[in-house]
Amino acid sequence: MFSRITGTGSYLPKKVLTNQDLERMVETSHDWIFSRTGISQRHIAADDESTSDLALHASRRAIEAAGIDPQQIDLIIVGTTTPDQVFPSTACLLQNKLGIRSGGPAFDIQAVCSGFVYALSTADQFIRSGQSKCALIVGAETMSRIVDWTDRNTCVLFGDGAGAVILQASETEGIISTHLHADGAYKDLLSVDGGGCGVKREGDPRVIMDGSGVFKFAVGVLDSIVEETLSANNMQKSDIDWLVPHQANIRIIQATAKKLGLPMERVVLTVERHGNTSAASIPLALDTAVREGKIKPGETLLMEGVGGGFTWGSALVRW
Ligand code: UT7
Repeated sequence: MFSRITGTGSYLPKKVLTNQDLERMVETSHDWIFSRTGISQRHIAADDESTSDLALHASRRAIEAAGIDPQQIDLIIVGTTTPDQVFPSTACLLQNKLGIRSGGPAFDIQAVCSGFVYALSTADQFIRSGQSKCALIVGAETMSRIVDWTDRNTCVLFGDGAGAVILQASETEGIISTHLHADGAYKDLLSVDGGGCGVKREGDPRVIMDGSGVFKFAVGVLDSIVEETLSANNMQKSDIDWLVPHQANIRIIQATAKKLGLPMERVVLTVERHGNTSAASIPLALDTAVREGKIKPGETLLMEGVGGGFTWGSALVRW
């Protein structure tokens, strides 16, 4: 038994924040942001819009694309680092908003920017083992709620959004393999100073990052995960038709494409318009490429991402 992606959907909040808008908020420039990251704009959730709302819109579109009845969904996994509440999980809130009463499990996965790959891998295991037939997997984030809008080192990088896929049991191969890793020794390179139930502290939780440390770590582990994914499947670089990477920084993406020997035309790029939407970025990029008609049946896609923790992972997918 295999699992296959049978529908994709995504959603971006209406409000757009451009680099020019940011020039009026912090000491920065469009040229600095664009040349260092490839980002021109990002979307920002409205005050009354939560992560589960973004997830709901993206999920409805994925359900429609797959042509399924929502009641068929027997597993919901949401990758998010910006849940609506400590509990219930965003997945349970989403299940309720979708009116799904199948009783199937629903839970969140917290792996920051690797959240979607972690969620896809977990759902794939559920389907391969026969525990689930039809899963809804979402990456959804309101990063704007944990960004320090006075810190130019971080506030220019992130955006809000959601992407979703329907993953169904299939006799033909879809998800070929997934590879997940973590190393908590790097916890201080990228973190949020609070927001959980740790020791008491003052003030709102905010993203803290050692940008160049993250950059070096990301390029290194993505390099090795490309090798690991290809060798696990006895594949060559030339077998990859599309790279669907986590969209954090165009320079990190270019380094992975170079490693694969892939021309940039074969890399799905949304970082310029979406910024870094953490767990939402891969399914947002995937849905964008699918709706543009770029990805054809039978093609092989490599998804990869790295995020705070550190966590990193890849998924090799036959379309
Ligand atoms: O999903 C994972 C999430 N995080 C990432 O992917 C981040 C990975 N890292 C990066 O993308 C890059 O390291 C950054 C884009 C964050 C920074 O690029 P960089 O080429 O590594 O620049 P830098 O950190 O070496 O900073 C260079 C200078 C510094 O000034 P000084 O100390 O050299 O005078 C910064 O203060 O740029 C300054 N700077 C800015 N200047 C204008 C930092 N942020 C800004 C800004 N506008 N927004």
